[in-house]
Amino acid sequence: MTSLRPFTCDDLFRFNAINLDPLTENFGLGFYLQYLARWPEYFMVAESPAGDLMGYIMGKCEGVGENWHGHVTAVTVGPEYRRLGLAKRLMDGLEVTSDKKRCYFVDLFVRVSNKLAIGMYEKLGYIIYRTVLDYYSGEKEEDAYDMRKALSRDRNGKSVVPLTEPVRIDELEF
Ligand SMILES: CC(C)(COP(=O)(O)OP(=O)(O)OC[C@H]1O[C@@H](n2cnc3c(N)ncnc32)[C@H](O)[C@@H]1OP(=O)(O)O)[C@@H](O)C(=O)NCCC(=O)NCCS
Repeated sequence: MTSLRPFTCDDLFRFNAINLDPLTENFGLGFYLQYLARWPEYFMVAESPAGDLMGYIMGKCEGVGENWHGHVTAVTVGPEYRRLGLAKRLMDGLEVTSDKKRCYFVDLFVRVSNKLAIGMYEKLGYIIYRTVLDYYSGEKEEDAYDMRKALSRDRNGKSVVPLTEPVRIDELEF
């Protein structure tokens, strides 16, 4: 049976096969370690009965006042383990954690061209809140959708009223 467990430092030496995917964002070692140290409950991995890593989710909670929210920094599942409901389980877990922390919503950024992931997030109840211009830099520059899902604390869905105009990165509130 697949088990979901907290990501550990050792997993950083074992998750390369998952990260090879071109749509999976890769970060420097320090970035992962910062997440492990600050938001360990937001960094979970799915492991197969044979001990292979199948996928992981990495996130955090941040914001002030009604902007207090959970954030999905990365979610990815290895090609051979896709379509088994793993991403859904990982996302559900992050939402439960955020609910317990009394967050108002969960958000994430996704490439506007990543139709598969956008479709999955929509199925999980996320809406496109706004477009962030040139969010992705480097080899493949691209806009991002900032997608959101309201949690139980946001009873009136105030956090998920979509913006009509795109924003620039420097206009994002962190
Ligand atoms: C996107 C990704 C995380 C989905 O992982 P997954 O474990 O296969 O997703 P799930 O099995 O939990 O699928 C949940 C739902 O998403 C949708 N979905 C997932 N993969 C799909 C596909 N290939 N085609 C159509 N719909 C798909 C389905 O609605 C699915 O529900 P269903 O199987 O009951 O129909 C995975 O494809 C991946 O790692 N992609 C590369 C990295 C990436 O794009 N991450 C997101 C960046 S923001």
